[in-house]
Amino acid sequence: MKKHFLAPFVAALVLAINAHAADPETIARGQKAEARSCIPCHGLMIIHTNRLSRAAWNRELDKMANWGGKSPDRDALLEYLVTNFGDDKPVAKPILTGDGTGQPAKQ
Ligand code: HEC
Repeated sequence: MKKHFLAPFVAALVLAINAHAADPETIARGQKAEARSCIPCHGLMIIHTNRLSRAAWNRELDKMANWGGKSPDRDALLEYLVTNFGDDKPVAKPILTGDGTGQPAKQ
């Protein structure tokens, strides 16, 4: 009986979490945060070729913050990363350099 009583609340909570993740305004803010906070040290390629869970992106942001890449809009940035480069997305194509420069090979 108790389980049935809680079911609508659990469903509402799940919906609320999903709605938050899909908010396009937050995602757009996160992308701006990435442009401000992440490219001083490296290109976007090293970020966008990853497919990570929310927990792993969270750790990634902590790691970068410890190195000096702290974003003032961290929450929006996390949503942007999870939405676009989450582990539910198809694996990114490998970018082959062929010469160790870190730059994509000319096609
Ligand atoms: C202060 C310099 C610096 C800033 C700012 C920075 N990074 Fe990094 N990042 C690095 C370095 C150095 C590496 C490569 C070292 C390594 O492989 O651990 C790296 C590697 C990465 C990687 C590859 C996986 C890994 O951990 O090595 C990801 C993903 C990443 N950064 C994401 C980000 C994001 C997202 C931001 C913006 C919040 C950001 N970085 C800002 C220095 C920085």
